[in-house]
Amino acid sequence: MSLTAMLQEQFDAGLTTRSDFTIDQPVEQYGAVDHAVWQQLYERQTAMLPGRVCDAFMEGIRALDMDARRVPEFERLNEKLMAATGWQVVAVPGLVPDEVFFDHLANRRFPATWWMRRPDQLDYLQEPDCFHDVFGHVPLLANPVFADFMQAYGKAGTVAQSLGALPLLARLYWYTVEFGLMRDGDGLRIYGAGIVSSRGETEFSLTSREPNRIGFSLERVLRTQYRIDTFQQTYFVIDDFAQLFDAMRADLPTLFKAFAEQPSFEANARRPEDTQILMPA
Ligand SMILES: [Fe+2]
Repeated sequence: MSLTAMLQEQFDAGLTTRSDFTIDQPVEQYGAVDHAVWQQLYERQTAMLPGRVCDAFMEGIRALDMDARRVPEFERLNEKLMAATGWQVVAVPGLVPDEVFFDHLANRRFPATWWMRRPDQLDYLQEPDCFHDVFGHVPLLANPVFADFMQAYGKAGTVAQSLGALPLLARLYWYTVEFGLMRDGDGLRIYGAGIVSSRGETEFSLTSREPNRIGFSLERVLRTQYRIDTFQQTYFVIDDFAQLFDAMRADLPTLFKAFAEQPSFEANARRPEDTQILMPA
C-alpha cells in the first residue's frame, strides 16, 4: 500500500496523524484476530530463539515484560523502556519519510507500525507491521549500547540525506539492524529484527551453507547492495554492539564521497579482503 493510501485509510478510520507522522496507538481497534496473530507469532518466535538469538535480545524481552497474549500497549511498554535506556516507542501508520524517521531515532523514539498483519501473512509480509517493529526491534532498544548506536544512526541519517548518500547508509541499517548476525557466547547468533521476526530466516541465516557470512566492516557494508526479495546472500557478523557504535564515529561524509565514485558490490559478492566466518563442519 502506498503511503498516501495508508494515510487515507488512517484518516477514514478516524486516526489523527501529527506532523511527525505519529498517532495515538488506537488500542481499541485491535480485535481478537489481531491478538491471536500476535500470540501465535510471539510464541512461535520465543520458542525458537533461545540459543539462536543474542543474549541481549532475550534480556530485552525479559526486561520489557511483553504479554504473549496481546498486542502490546506502547504506553505500558514505554514505562519499562524509558527506565532502561530513555527510548520510547511511538505509533505510526506505516513507513514514514526518511527525514522523519531519522529525527525520531536521533531523539530516541522508535516509530512502530501500529497495525497487525493478517493470519494468512504469518510467514511473510513485505512491509513492517506491529509484530516486526515491536517484537523484532524494541527488545534491543533496552540494551544501552545498541540504544546509543540507534540514536547515532538517526543523526548520521540526517547527514547522509544532506549529502545525497541515503542509499549507502541504508545498507548499514539493512545489514545490521535488520539482518545482522553476532558472535556471541558459544557461536553465531542473530540480532537483526528482520531475522528475529521471521521463522524461515532465523533458520536459514544460522544454518544454511548458501550465504556468505563475513566479519563486519563499515566500508564493506556501505558498498554492498542488498536484495529485498530473498533471504540474505551475505550476512555481516559483529563481535558486539560496541563495534556498531564505534563505526558511527567514522568520517562518514568522506566515506560517502569516496564510495559514490566507486562501483558497489553485488549482494552475493565475495571479496579477497573479507573475513569469512566459517560454519562448523
Ligand atoms: Fe525493521
